[in-house]
Amino acid sequence: MLSKNIAVVGTGYVGLVTGVALSEIGHTVTCVDVDEEKVALLKDGVSPIYEPELSELMKKNYEAGRLSFTTSHRIAFAGADAIYIAVGTPQNEDGTADLRFIESVVRNIADYITKYVVIVTKSTVPVGTNHHIKRYLEGETEVPFDVVSNPEFLREGSAIQDTFDGDRIVIGADTEMAATLLEEMNEPFGIPIFKTDVRSAEMIKYASNAFLATKISFVNEIATLCEKLEANVEDVAHGMGLDKRIGEKFLQAGIGYGGSCFPKDTNALVQIAGNVEHEFTLLKAVIEVNYKQQRLLVEKAKQHFGSLRGKRIALLGTAFKPNTDDMREAASTVIAEELVLAGAQVVAYDPIAMAQAKVEFPEAVNFAESAEAALDGADAAFLVTEWEEFKVIKANHYVKLLKKPVLFDGRNCYNLEEMKRAGLDYYSVGRPAVRAEREMV
Ligand code: UDX
Repeated sequence: MLSKNIAVVGTGYVGLVTGVALSEIGHTVTCVDVDEEKVALLKDGVSPIYEPELSELMKKNYEAGRLSFTTSHRIAFAGADAIYIAVGTPQNEDGTADLRFIESVVRNIADYITKYVVIVTKSTVPVGTNHHIKRYLEGETEVPFDVVSNPEFLREGSAIQDTFDGDRIVIGADTEMAATLLEEMNEPFGIPIFKTDVRSAEMIKYASNAFLATKISFVNEIATLCEKLEANVEDVAHGMGLDKRIGEKFLQAGIGYGGSCFPKDTNALVQIAGNVEHEFTLLKAVIEVNYKQQRLLVEKAKQHFGSLRGKRIALLGTAFKPNTDDMREAASTVIAEELVLAGAQVVAYDPIAMAQAKVEFPEAVNFAESAEAALDGADAAFLVTEWEEFKVIKANHYVKLLKKPVLFDGRNCYNLEEMKRAGLDYYSVGRPAVRAEREMV
């Protein structure tokens, strides 16, 4: 196969996974990051992020000499056939994407490239950014180059699996030469490749994330209706998903979407639309539904208890989803804040995101060393992240540990019948509430 010299700028989530994956298929990859501590860790074979299979692949390719790490852009860019930009594009206060890091990488590219290179943008950037990069570089360097948009569609927690078994690779290029080079470089992944122009590729990324977020908010609205109309959203979603045009995925009702992509990208797309004088009404509603959904469990608890003042609440799960320690835009933070505001005493536990939670949560929140310790003596439990270790907790365990057992399940983890038999008050999302027998007699 065609083995290339590749530089990947940014060893965050996207950059590291991309660099490791490209080395695994045989390319020689140099990952560059300005963070010296991080690069030192990486050189020691330690992955700064928690991601299944990543450390093993990183170690294997590092030892094979196909993967290296540096803080020097000059070293990384020397002789590179392709430079991948995989730095963060955080959200500005007004919802637009902050392109500071991209701009800094581009300045380095202008300084250090010496021969034809394809600049590949992995970071999610507003439509038009790659053309902006191109125009800037044209003014700064005589060296020939092409700019390609190659968005990532990785889910945290299954990024390696998604890289090697994804649905598509999107390549947005303006020249046939760059498109062909990228296509050949990516062929070993064995994933369908879709080639298009740069701006359409940039839009595919935003449109995909916005559509998935729409699916989630849609099913969450249906869940609210199901509760009011005594239907069960799980069956409704299943029945809908059997229609191949709809599809069963991303129809899991819950406490809304969080994470590093959906909230940021939906806000950015609303802004992008606004810039061209289009009000993206549908997406605005999706964002609004998500805002309400993240507060749903607290609302249910307020209704159940009347007041939450002095109530001890066990908060199970702080990560925005299982198998990651990421807490960016996690519903857990909103829930912890709202509970503290309502006067509750919060005791939180997460299998791996606890260090993060200690930074993100209000100071008043306490932390427990296990789910059991969090639940012990609490007035109610909030199930926020559907970690496997929570899913296997038996109903009678809640009954034993909680004072007067009430469970607010934001992820529909348990069987309604089992909860009923155990005598719990059990509230989930879009399914009938289970009220303990003792209160009915
Ligand atoms: C997402 C996209 O899936 C990925 O393609 C993109 O590149 C980055 O953003 P990620 O943020 O890692 O990936 O997580 P994902 O598994 O998609 O979940 C996002 C959020 O939606 C989570 O908070 C999750 O709990 C929620 N979700 C997902 C639901 O509430 N219901 C669902 O049916 C699916």
